[in-house]
Amino acid sequence: MSDNTASLNVGGNSYDYAVMDGSVGPQVIDVRKLYANTGMFTYDPGFTSTASCESGLTYIDGDEGVLLHRGYPIGQLAEQSSFMEVSYLLLNGELPSKQELDEFTHTITRHTMVHEQLTTFYRGFRRDAHPMAIMCGVVGALSAFYHDSTDINDPEQRKIASHRLIAKMPTIAAMAYKYSAGQPFVYPRNDLSYTANFLRMTFSVPAEEYIPDPVVVDAMDKIFILHADHEQNASTSTVRLAGSSGANPFACIAAGIACLWGPAHGGANEAALNMLHEIGTVDRIPEYIARAKNKDDPFRLMGFGHRVYKNYDPRATVMQKTAKDVLEKLGVDDPIFDVAKELEQIALNDPYFIEKKLYPNVDFYSGVILSAIGFPTEMFTVLFALARTVGWVAQWNEMISDPAQKIGRPRQLYTGPVQRDYVPVSAR
Ligand code: SDX
Repeated sequence: MSDNTASLNVGGNSYDYAVMDGSVGPQVIDVRKLYANTGMFTYDPGFTSTASCESGLTYIDGDEGVLLHRGYPIGQLAEQSSFMEVSYLLLNGELPSKQELDEFTHTITRHTMVHEQLTTFYRGFRRDAHPMAIMCGVVGALSAFYHDSTDINDPEQRKIASHRLIAKMPTIAAMAYKYSAGQPFVYPRNDLSYTANFLRMTFSVPAEEYIPDPVVVDAMDKIFILHADHEQNASTSTVRLAGSSGANPFACIAAGIACLWGPAHGGANEAALNMLHEIGTVDRIPEYIARAKNKDDPFRLMGFGHRVYKNYDPRATVMQKTAKDVLEKLGVDDPIFDVAKELEQIALNDPYFIEKKLYPNVDFYSGVILSAIGFPTEMFTVLFALARTVGWVAQWNEMISDPAQKIGRPRQLYTGPVQRDYVPVSAR
């Protein structure tokens, strides 16, 4: 194999395929012609060795625990930036000037209201519907309300749809919470920041004003930053695949929400806190560690492990520090945080987890903070979807603008029956 080609010997023939370099990270072997050359497919269920696209948004080095958004380390963004600024960075590729940030924030702020008819849509759900079920339905229905921004070939309509999605997700998420709580919807206010507005729409009631606590606003904004984007994860790949058919952006984001809901993905934050509550006390941790290691037991440590990170998830580092800060500042003494920290210590010193390189991921500590702020567990994945919308939208825009993009259509290794003739029922 030369530096920039990979040779494949198959069926007595040799084929050369180009090796492509990124700006950093693994090279790729361009196998687009492999089927035409060999009549064979590559086989990669779960896409463990497959690059589905070219992207300049987010870079992850799983071995080193590195996460960059447009080149900026997640730790620096979480400590020094804001979710609005990170959203601008993901969408536009560069950090904004003050004027650019003010204009972007002004635009997003003035898209936060939703069509009043949407409130009727919510009333079709049972009050005990899971908020993620409501999110799937309501976001999918947005194309029925915002027809004028569904032409994916019109850059201006793509921009408006992108702004509408980023701006309206907090309102839709807060409405999902209010509906399940049986409380009246709270309208957005243009004098509040993106995150303060969301907290007020969630926790304010007509009987009592909710003044967002700056500690809570800062922690929530940091959590949004940590969840904004993450390369070609399952839900982002879902959004890209839906978008590759030309589906409108609202439908694509709804598809991403559906995929994110799974407990192996974004649903892990809800599952992780439920697991910590089930464990309950430090003395019961060994029992659950044993279950996690038992091949015959489907139980897994939720919030642990990752397809890409074989080192500490850098987001989990920030999340654990934020949890400590928020609990201290709010004066919340949550024994579940102690269980989480002890569980982490035991797992990180257990040969099973060390050998399999299983570390806490972004979902392990987030629930401790969200619970302290006052969110019910069922809302945790909704908050993940709210924040990840900017990443999904940025990835969708990048895909639409990529000249190499075409409809995604994987093939298969067929292992079903070979052709056979129909047998009438009288002869079976
Ligand atoms: C997110 O992709 C992304 O970037 C996702 C995300 C994002 O920001 O978009 O980072 C967000 O989804 C984080 C992950 C949240 N999920 C969980 O916390 C659920 C628990 N973790 C897992 O189920 C698992 O670790 C995955 C799904 C996250 C990753 O699974 P992989 O890469 O397919 O790995 P695997 O299932 O093949 O596991 C490898 C081995 C297996 O053992 P063996 O079959 O080799 O003997 O590790 C074991 C697994 O049994 N293992 C675990 C474990 N995770 C993996 N054992 C116990 N507890 C766990 N949590």
